[in-house]
Amino acid sequence: MPEFAERMSAMEKSANVIKGLFGAMNDPDLISFGGGAPAFEALPVDIVREIANDVIRKDKRGVEALQYGNVMGAEDLRQIVVKELLQPKGVEAKVENIMIINGGLEAMNLLCQLYIEPGDVILVESPSFVHSVEIFDMFEAKCIGVDMDDEGMDPDDLEKKIKLYKPKMVYVIPTFHNPTGRTLTLERRKRIAEFGGKYDVIILEDDPYRDIRYSGRDLLPIKAFDKTGHTVLANSFSKIFSPGSRLGYILANDAIMQKLFAAKTATNSHTSMLPQILCAEFFKRGYYPNHHKMICDLYRERRDAMIESIDKFFPEGTKRVFPDGGLFTWVELPGGINTTELLAESVKNPDVKVAFVAGEGFFVEGDGKGNNCMRISYGSVPPEKIKMGIKRLGKLICEKIK
Ligand SMILES: Cc1ncc(COP(=O)(O)O)c(C=O)c1O
Repeated sequence: MPEFAERMSAMEKSANVIKGLFGAMNDPDLISFGGGAPAFEALPVDIVREIANDVIRKDKRGVEALQYGNVMGAEDLRQIVVKELLQPKGVEAKVENIMIINGGLEAMNLLCQLYIEPGDVILVESPSFVHSVEIFDMFEAKCIGVDMDDEGMDPDDLEKKIKLYKPKMVYVIPTFHNPTGRTLTLERRKRIAEFGGKYDVIILEDDPYRDIRYSGRDLLPIKAFDKTGHTVLANSFSKIFSPGSRLGYILANDAIMQKLFAAKTATNSHTSMLPQILCAEFFKRGYYPNHHKMICDLYRERRDAMIESIDKFFPEGTKRVFPDGGLFTWVELPGGINTTELLAESVKNPDVKVAFVAGEGFFVEGDGKGNNCMRISYGSVPPEKIKMGIKRLGKLICEKIK
């Protein structure tokens, strides 16, 4: 057999981390705070069935749904992005600058195709989203971590590292960050946008959680402060409509969009038409506002149950993030507990049977950083199970500390 390409070793390393992170989560007896999937109650199954029955017909949009489509995406879905998702959040955009992509993740892939040569540096938050790092690895980029605190990516450390490493790209998840649930402050958003032009670096703003805010006040995206076109905004329909539909979008300036057009054409011609049409009709038929309210109410209740339970059952000295939206909180444990070992024990112990994601795998440093941390996802677990799971996990942690 021919030898596999060099890049596979880097990709396999990240894929194994992901496998390890999610491996234990198929056990039906387990209470899993592991995966980041939306709640099944948040998927608009009945609405989509009704839409499909109505529009997937020859005399409506059936032919369009099954035919080749436009590289940039369905025109009406792009208009919806501009008018219903960006404008109300303070971002003015032209339809020509929106591309519909195969899930938000494709943005990372396409941007790497545009900019990354092997060895180029990408600065990422420390910790960062493992799947994006896996894509950066595939392009043989060198990922370097930037410090974070409760207010998100630290712009002082970012500026220092931009000067030091001359990166091609800065990858930032500003709102209800994965894995920490933290949100970048407005002041920091402004500064990071300025760095784009000042240091001639692409700011890749990945913002798939911003639309599921259920407390606090909306913040303008970094893109809203971008005066030079260096910020590229990526977003996803996974959390507000359906992850299985694999839909997302990119907002970029004319010059970047022209290159994205070429990269998208070469990669997969265009995003699947069928989900684009179902999603566009979901918005056009006015289902989104009620659906949006329903999912925010659902996740707010789960967030409250989670934070209350952590505060009640985890040991003194535990630090946790109170997220105003999204699906995750991040916990730092006291007492030198290693969460990778804790996870192995908590999924096996019949009195616990609780999964979460150990923190270490989210750090590109690979030096044990974050080994007392855990990402806890509450989106797909009902409140009673949240309380039960956190009580059992808390008991195990307290016993270990003793
Ligand atoms: C930070 C971040 N970016 C991007 C994505 C991509 O989502 P998708 O490809 O499902 O649209 C996710 C999904 O979990 C995410 O957490």
